[in-house]
Amino acid sequence: MDLDSLKQIILDIESRATSDFDSVNTKSDLDDAYRSFLGKKGEVNILLKSLGSLPQEKRKEAGKILNQLKSTLESGYAQKTISISAQEKQDKLNQQKIDVTLDGFEDLKGSVHPVTQTIKDICDFFERMGFDIESGPEAEIDYYNFEALNVPADHPAKDMHDTFYLNNKGLLRTHTSPVQIRTMEKAKAPHRIICPGKVYRKDSDLTHTPMFHQIEGLVVEEGASFSQLKGLLNDFLEDFFGEAVELRFRPSYFPFTEPSAEADIRWKKNWLEVLGCGMVHPNVLKGVGVDTKKYSGFAFGLGVERMAMLKYDIPDLRAFFDNDIRFLNQF
Ligand code: FA5
Ligand code: MG
Repeated sequence: MDLDSLKQIILDIESRATSDFDSVNTKSDLDDAYRSFLGKKGEVNILLKSLGSLPQEKRKEAGKILNQLKSTLESGYAQKTISISAQEKQDKLNQQKIDVTLDGFEDLKGSVHPVTQTIKDICDFFERMGFDIESGPEAEIDYYNFEALNVPADHPAKDMHDTFYLNNKGLLRTHTSPVQIRTMEKAKAPHRIICPGKVYRKDSDLTHTPMFHQIEGLVVEEGASFSQLKGLLNDFLEDFFGEAVELRFRPSYFPFTEPSAEADIRWKKNWLEVLGCGMVHPNVLKGVGVDTKKYSGFAFGLGVERMAMLKYDIPDLRAFFDNDIRFLNQF
């Protein structure tokens, strides 16, 4: 081979390589083309090996023009690499195009359950009046739910509560009054507490559910009186409903209070009972070691769902626990 035919071959390689690089669209096709010219077994390398057949004095020039070819092809390859990656990026962007005319997602808002809200409103009022918030277990024993509240084993008042009994002789508390006993056992008088919580009874109709919430209140102080109890409950009910409600106190009976009363609120021409209350029975106070010469006490137990029912004008108490989203969305 002489120098002129080498130059001819180089021109030919250069033009084929340039047009090959030009025509490919992907990086892998480009790399294939690169290898066929500049790879180990590519045309340029083969050509380099054949330089040995040139006369000594021509080899230097041949090497020079071959190196020129190499660098021309390398830079062609580099440029094409850049343009392919720019194109790939653009294609990706085109695919991911955001359609700003599409509808957005609806903002799903949660809301506080009306029973939770009612408990909070009631507790807020009594906290402002200096009451502490207490709690007690829902699974109780007979002693706290009945006996310590002056309801002995075969007392007929037990029938007033249709109790759910547990296998282990325990029971589901039928009211929040056991917390009165637990509070007075735990600390010395005076006391001023309320206790919101779940209670259970075998009961179900428009104004009764088998699980419902009560808020117990207990005040044990020197000179605590029935008129204070009545005044406190009046203030509370006015604050809760935000207007004067038709309220009546009716004499009643609870084994753990004496005297006892229940309070009713006028609801759609009927009276709806919302709470029971009274002066804590001396037997109860003595049972937990309260000095009855020094202290007297009053207590009350509010039905939370009844309060919510009146405030939000809900005709069927069971609706609070059906969890129908259309009902809950109203709050
Ligand atoms: C009691 O449970 C007494 N522990 C209340 C009490 C406490 C009296 C402290 C004296 C001193 P009663 O069974 O009446 O009382 O229930 C109290 C309130 O709970 C009722 O006035 C009513 O508002 C509500 N209530 C009773 N049963 C149900 C029920 N099944 N579903 C929804 N609310 C109920
Ligand atoms: Mg009652």
